[in-house]
Amino acid sequence: MVVFDLLNSVLPSIFISFTATLLLCFLWSSHAETSVLPDHPLTDGNTIISPGGVYELGFFTPGRSANRYVGIWYHHFTSIVVWVANRESPIPDSSGSLSIAPDGNLVLLDSRQLILWSSNVSLSSNNSTAALLDTGNFVLNNSGDTAWQSFDHPTDTYLPGMKVGLDFRNNVNHLFTSWRSADDPSPGNFTMGMNPDLSTQIFLWKDGEPRWRSGRWNGQLFIGVEGMIPEYMYGFRLSNFQVEQQMYFYYNSFNSTLYYVLSADGLEKQLVWQSETQTWQEIWAEPATECEVYNRCGSNASCRDGADRSPVCSCLKGFVPTSTGCQRRTALSCEKNDSGEDSSGETDGFFLMQGVKLPDLSDWDSDSTNQSKCEESCLMNCSCKAYSFVPGIGCLIWGRDLVDIHEFSNGGNDFYLRLAASEFMDKKVKIPVFLILAIGIPILFALGCIWFLWKFRRKIIGKGCFTPEPSVDHRNSSVGTETGLSGMLVMEGGNNGRRGSKMFSFDAVAAATENFSESNFLGAGGFGPVYKGELPGGQEIAVKRLSQTSGQGIEQFKNEVTLITKLQHRNLVRLLGFCTHREDKMLIYEYMRNKSLDAFLFDKTKRRLLDWKTRYNIIEGIARGLLYLHRDSRLRVIHRDLKASNILLDGSMNPKISDFGMARILGCDGNESTTKRVVGTYGYMSPEYAMQGLLSVKSDIYSFGILILEIISGERNSTYWHPHLYLNLIAYAWKLWKEGNVMEFVDPLIRDSCEVSGVSKCLNLGLSCVQDRACDRPNVASVIVMLEGGTMAQSTPKQPTFAFEQSTSDESTHQGFVSGKSLVITTLSGR
Ligand SMILES: *[C@@H]1O[C@H](CO)[C@@H](O)[C@H](O)[C@H]1NC(C)=O
Ligand SMILES: *[C@@H]1O[C@H](CO)[C@@H](O)[C@H](O)[C@H]1NC(C)=O
Ligand SMILES: *[C@@H]1O[C@H](CO)[C@@H](O)[C@H](O)[C@H]1NC(C)=O
Ligand SMILES: *[C@@H]1O[C@H](CO)[C@@H](O)[C@H](O)[C@H]1NC(C)=O
Ligand SMILES: *[C@@H]1O[C@H](CO)[C@@H](O)[C@H](O)[C@H]1NC(C)=O
Ligand SMILES: *[C@@H]1O[C@H](CO)[C@@H](O)[C@H](O)[C@H]1NC(C)=O
Ligand SMILES: *[C@@H]1O[C@H](CO)[C@@H](O)[C@H](O)[C@H]1NC(C)=O
Ligand SMILES: *[C@@H]1O[C@H](CO)[C@@H](O)[C@H](O)[C@H]1NC(C)=O
Ligand SMILES: *[C@@H]1O[C@H](CO)[C@@H](O)[C@H](O)[C@H]1NC(C)=O
Ligand SMILES: *[C@@H]1O[C@H](CO)[C@@H](O)[C@H](O)[C@H]1NC(C)=O
Repeated sequence: MVVFDLLNSVLPSIFISFTATLLLCFLWSSHAETSVLPDHPLTDGNTIISPGGVYELGFFTPGRSANRYVGIWYHHFTSIVVWVANRESPIPDSSGSLSIAPDGNLVLLDSRQLILWSSNVSLSSNNSTAALLDTGNFVLNNSGDTAWQSFDHPTDTYLPGMKVGLDFRNNVNHLFTSWRSADDPSPGNFTMGMNPDLSTQIFLWKDGEPRWRSGRWNGQLFIGVEGMIPEYMYGFRLSNFQVEQQMYFYYNSFNSTLYYVLSADGLEKQLVWQSETQTWQEIWAEPATECEVYNRCGSNASCRDGADRSPVCSCLKGFVPTSTGCQRRTALSCEKNDSGEDSSGETDGFFLMQGVKLPDLSDWDSDSTNQSKCEESCLMNCSCKAYSFVPGIGCLIWGRDLVDIHEFSNGGNDFYLRLAASEFMDKKVKIPVFLILAIGIPILFALGCIWFLWKFRRKIIGKGCFTPEPSVDHRNSSVGTETGLSGMLVMEGGNNGRRGSKMFSFDAVAAATENFSESNFLGAGGFGPVYKGELPGGQEIAVKRLSQTSGQGIEQFKNEVTLITKLQHRNLVRLLGFCTHREDKMLIYEYMRNKSLDAFLFDKTKRRLLDWKTRYNIIEGIARGLLYLHRDSRLRVIHRDLKASNILLDGSMNPKISDFGMARILGCDGNESTTKRVVGTYGYMSPEYAMQGLLSVKSDIYSFGILILEIISGERNSTYWHPHLYLNLIAYAWKLWKEGNVMEFVDPLIRDSCEVSGVSKCLNLGLSCVQDRACDRPNVASVIVMLEGGTMAQSTPKQPTFAFEQSTSDESTHQGFVSGKSLVITTLSGR
């Protein structure tokens, strides 16, 4: 209800703000200065322009207002005001002047020389100047020090480089505050800033009540923003607040002009300058849908966006609607009294909700470093209502009410809701026998008919169920000829007489896998289950069956088939064929006896089987596969999703790169290209790709570097935390490499089998490959040279700061959860 009222009151003001922004005008022609000096006040009609001509400071009149304000705007887009000094004390006429007071403070005086606004800081001397920088920051320089700056007193606009957030030293939370309306810069109803409870979430409040939240920061993005592509985040980072005693997010604009603004109608918007069209384009605004509005459906309920964007609320599983909201139907076993014998002491279970915006009010459990530990720790704690294990964050548990749950239509996290054991049992409903007979017999009869018809139909369509060419003989070859794929795929026929890429009939695949039986199930790949099979000739195959529900699967399927049929290399997995059968799409590969690298590398016992020599061979093999992809193949291909689970191992532990569903073919000239959709796996994505969508062969090199570090250490980059040093894998590798202590980085289980020089070479290579800047990373040809010869003077890697900063801030994030309980933060809004 409240929300609807809110929207009703907001809608007219959207219109007003729109028109008013257009009307915003400047009545006086400007005369540019460079700074405000004690003997040289800035009077109405004059402006200060930043040295590079980006921003301008002066007096302005917003919209239909009659008042004058001092503010900063884009020099070239005068209608976009990014900061206002005297929000609450407008000047009624054009008599105002901005000057340096005798005590050295900045002051805004009216015609009677009364102070309307002041920077109001205590200063040691009166030797002050004020200047506008190209970042948009207006700085008061007192005897050489920054005594005051506008970036510390933001209004409604969040510019690159601003550090606005929690200040632990002074116990204040600096916030952005919206304008009251487009005509009135005085503080409005909406504020935005860091969540004071140190959860690394950004909150938007209306009159102090939560209106929207971003979800926690996972080191790359906010997990509660649906479809948030790191590309659009332009390098958001969390401060290292342990050291700085301040918690804030800051961002770089990388080479584009953008800003965030909290509009008067309560939307946080991101605007980006489009140089082609010479306009500001709004590319992001929150809350975008009703379900994004904080706790729209109340506690213990979830919100789903309906067809017409209306919110659909439903109680969580195991909860039922009551007059007081959704309540648990069956008490958890630990909540029941011990005496209660009837519950038969069954332990609670967890119900998985996929793709959700995780509820607010979670606690971080630092001791649980993997999913199973997290689940166990939740079961042991009676007040734990749910848990989630989030890559980049770790184990989150919920002990308070479950509020603000949104079911995303894509993305989101896995959420494990704790329910009484009885909630998982099938409801036993007693049905009279005659009913069973009355309903059952006709159903059986109908099923019989359907089965009969279906059988009959297969007889008719038979061999041709997947292809117009009736040329396939199932009996002896089981492998069809290569044909067009039901018009879906156009493939070049008979290239180089290569074998493989045949079309298989569905029956042959089903027979080979014993009808996709449980016993042949190998695991779940990116887009569906994978089964083992055996062809009549005895050849073992792996069948990836793309799940029907995954719409993306089709694209990936086409991509993978077209690509991999043209690529043949001993370090790439070989596609034997494919099969389409109605909605079913399957890819048939050679079977890899040892499955994937991650099954060995990250397994407590199996990793021992990968001794140093084997690991070195694997690194070399991957490099050769990459060399082929990047340089030697007929197409130049970027894999885009290189990771341990995509490296398969054959019977002799030779690595083969697999999963080309996301791969991209490069133009012939081509290095860099920009992509709108960033896909890949966190932990393996290069910074420029994750943040800007910049794609090049060097993105694969970055992933390869991560793989090298993982292979040496046997640790997963995405979840590794050094227990005492609080470093992530890259930072830890860098530290040890710097100290010349490389053996320390090697998996302890295989340390005996390796020599220092080889490890040193690989670690050096790994660190070179994970450099922040793509141009600092070697290309794959030099990688091979480094691996083989070592004659080449080894390049000395620079400190990978991206990963480093990320790690320190993540670390401090976690520390904050632990130590932040006693903090008292008051709220201070921007002036
Ligand atoms: C600064 O203070 C000194 C005395 O402490 C005074 O003589 C001088 O005029 C002041 N300068 C300005 C610009 O106010
Ligand atoms: C300056 O700050 C003090 C408190 O720090 C306050 O009492 C005073 O009113 C402020 N002056 C102006 C002009 O804002
Ligand atoms: C004022 O400060 C500047 C910068 O520190 C210094 O160069 C200048 O000499 C100072 N002037 C006075 C009068 O103290
Ligand atoms: C303050 O001004 C002095 C002299 O103009 C300059 O050298 C110094 O870098 C400035 N300091 C800051 C923090 O802007
Ligand atoms: C802001 O709040 C006031 C009073 O609480 C209300 O009258 C006004 O309509 C609100 N403005 C917006 C834009 O919601
Ligand atoms: C920004 O991009 C333009 C061309 O797009 C280039 O000329 C300029 O050097 C770049 N600036 C920076 C700081 O990278
Ligand atoms: C949510 O469910 C819990 C039971 O787990 C109950 O104690 C609580 O009152 C419910 N919250 C609301 C708002 O109904
Ligand atoms: C549990 O037992 C205590 C006394 O042992 C009793 O006061 C309480 O009402 C019981 N609670 C339930 C839910 O049965
Ligand atoms: C999870 O971590 C615990 C110790 O923290 C360990 O005993 C357990 O084996 C781990 N489980 C997996 C699957 O790695
Ligand atoms: C149980 O969970 C609650 C809520 O997350 C937490 O506050 C409490 O410390 C936990 N208790 C134990 C013993 O871990």
